[in-house]
Amino acid sequence: MGLNLDAVGREIGPVTKAYTWKDAALYALGVGAGFPELEYCYENGLKVLPSFAITTLYDFLPALAAASNVNLAGILHGEQALVFHNPIPPEGTLSTVGRITAFYDKGRDRGALVLAESVTRDGNGRKLFSGVTTLFSRLDGGFGGPAAPRAEVVFPGRPPDAVAAGKPSENQPLLFRLSGDVFPLHVDAAFARRAGFEGPIMHGLCTHGFACLALINRLTPGAPEKVRRLSCRFTRPLYPGTPIETRIWQVAAGRALWQVVNAVSGEIVIDRGEFEFGEAPADTVRFDGQVAVVTGAGGGLGRVYALELARRGARVVVNDLGGGRDGTGEATRAPAERVVEEIRALGGEAVANGDSVAAAEGGEAIVAAALKAFGRLDVLINNAGILRDKSFAKMSPGEWRAVLDVHLDGACHVTRPAFAVMKEQGYGRILMTTSGSGLYGNFGQANYSAAKLGLVGLMNTLKIEGLRHDIKVNAVAQVAASRLTEDVMPGDLFGRMAPEAVAPLVLFLCSRDCPVSGRVYNVGAGFANRAAVVTWRNVVVGDARTPPTVEAVVDSLARIDSLEGGREYWEAILQIGDAAAALSAPAGGGPGAGPAGPPSVAEVFAAMPGAFVAEAAAGVDVVFQFDISGRGGGSWHCIVRGGACTVAEGAHDRPACTVRMAADDFLAMMAGTLPAMQAYTSGRLKIEGDIMKSQLIEKLFKF
Ligand code: NAI
Repeated sequence: MGLNLDAVGREIGPVTKAYTWKDAALYALGVGAGFPELEYCYENGLKVLPSFAITTLYDFLPALAAASNVNLAGILHGEQALVFHNPIPPEGTLSTVGRITAFYDKGRDRGALVLAESVTRDGNGRKLFSGVTTLFSRLDGGFGGPAAPRAEVVFPGRPPDAVAAGKPSENQPLLFRLSGDVFPLHVDAAFARRAGFEGPIMHGLCTHGFACLALINRLTPGAPEKVRRLSCRFTRPLYPGTPIETRIWQVAAGRALWQVVNAVSGEIVIDRGEFEFGEAPADTVRFDGQVAVVTGAGGGLGRVYALELARRGARVVVNDLGGGRDGTGEATRAPAERVVEEIRALGGEAVANGDSVAAAEGGEAIVAAALKAFGRLDVLINNAGILRDKSFAKMSPGEWRAVLDVHLDGACHVTRPAFAVMKEQGYGRILMTTSGSGLYGNFGQANYSAAKLGLVGLMNTLKIEGLRHDIKVNAVAQVAASRLTEDVMPGDLFGRMAPEAVAPLVLFLCSRDCPVSGRVYNVGAGFANRAAVVTWRNVVVGDARTPPTVEAVVDSLARIDSLEGGREYWEAILQIGDAAAALSAPAGGGPGAGPAGPPSVAEVFAAMPGAFVAEAAAGVDVVFQFDISGRGGGSWHCIVRGGACTVAEGAHDRPACTVRMAADDFLAMMAGTLPAMQAYTSGRLKIEGDIMKSQLIEKLFKF
């Protein structure tokens, strides 16, 4: 029947496994632990060996084999990578969800590889570990698929830094199989002989457990929670009772390479071992459970964003059309696929997409890829870009168009369907990639400058339309070493401009904690600042009733040109309001009374007594407590008594009701863009205490 190639992307699981400390201890005994490593065998203070993770595979592998339709007569467990996010608890439930990510062809007589990734969480949904499993199917080669990408593990030329001797007993498989792998090959002599062996063979995963224990004992003794990654390739069978050696080379701080060798024959039975260890990263900006699309992420800045998002828990659609930096050349998914491989090697989840942002259908397909693979979309980074530099006089309409197509129209094509998804779910973060060329100009880049500043205009309106849906839209103008800048930056500067220096600000702007929308930041090589459209006071020229003369404008030019004391506007209407106020003000005009941007939470509370409607407060005696979370939040309380209102910072000891909200939602509600009822029914406004009293708030305050 052959491999089911359509199964790529199809979800496998969840497969769940409930376990107790006895399962963890039995596993540890099965891989050679004993009194010297009592912490893995004794329920008093039990720690779970990280390689216990493989016991989740026993239900996952059959499901994977069925979904891929491999020929069961010829399958072997080829490779296994495990990445550990949190320690495995001594008991509980493990729930694993995975998907087939690729089929690779080694050739007709050489077999096929089936790759699957999986994520395992505990009963509280906490991500414990993720895996990449490679099944080697000896009988399914020659189906015409691509060859597997080569990822080399290069061992140092020196002898190992440490060698741990191990002695699996003659009976080891009998003990190990009780952890779940009851395949007869490891216990039934007749079965093993029919399969071409002299007798039952060791489980490869048992030898893997011996190695894991040896690596921990050597590199992070007594601290299995510091194991970050364990991966290897299974190469040869081993008979029970054969002594083994785990050979270890420490190649960097927190990183070692390893092999397991048959100590009698010298043959390598497990090869290409990698082991990473250290404290769990103290990331506070996380994207767990979120899905991100990064366009143009096959290289340069986009690749770095995609990797960092994945490292921090996001599932990522890596989009890239391939091709040259001017947008010509053959379209290919290869760059996107390489980045996806990198993400998977880190234990992250990602899919590749090769659609072009320059067409509306491409944008739709990119967003559809996120929904198909991961079911949602939280973050969009519009990053894809090309260059067609020419001085304006020499620039052809085609060169103008191509650059606008990718940067400006491209961002629109992807943002339009993404915005619809985010609006529906009431959450989203969108990043526009602008440029210093757009903000300030650059010789030879008229097309690029126009497109890049166009993105700021797009952002300006989306920030307003997204406000009530918690969609935040910001922009960065970065400077980084990439193929776009390799011949425009001086060499010494190029060397100091790592794309990694841009990613931290980009990630924060894409995070749930991002407090701002509609901002533009310059960023690169460790510097960052904000760029803004700043407007000074409205200078009234002439008598404010009849149109001024040219000469009157010339006379006022120095004042019109001044930016001293300039201000920003949240939206155009506020600037127009200021202009109208200036026209009715005394000659000379003034900055006007319109707000320069959305007020802060503290400003709202400061304005509260002024917004109090005394007539609506007859007979009212109530204390409202406001607990506002997030940037600019805090605690305030408001006492309405005897027809008066007092507002103070801090918690009141006996409030009638307590309102809990995120700062942004609170501001949106106060600005009237988030109706209180909608906030309440969507869970964004939480009320404790007397709910009926809380309904007075809308009546008592008119901002
Ligand atoms: P890069 O050339 O390494 O990355 C751009 C990526 O976009 C490439 O992988 C390319 O294949 C992809 N791409 C091009 N057309 C596409 C299309 N139609 N659909 C999908 N993908 C497409 O360059 P770099 O420097 O990483 O640029 C990333 C973004 O940052 C671009 O928007 C660029 O304009 C912007 N930028 C970069 C600066 C820098 O100093 N590197 C300065 C200012 C802005």
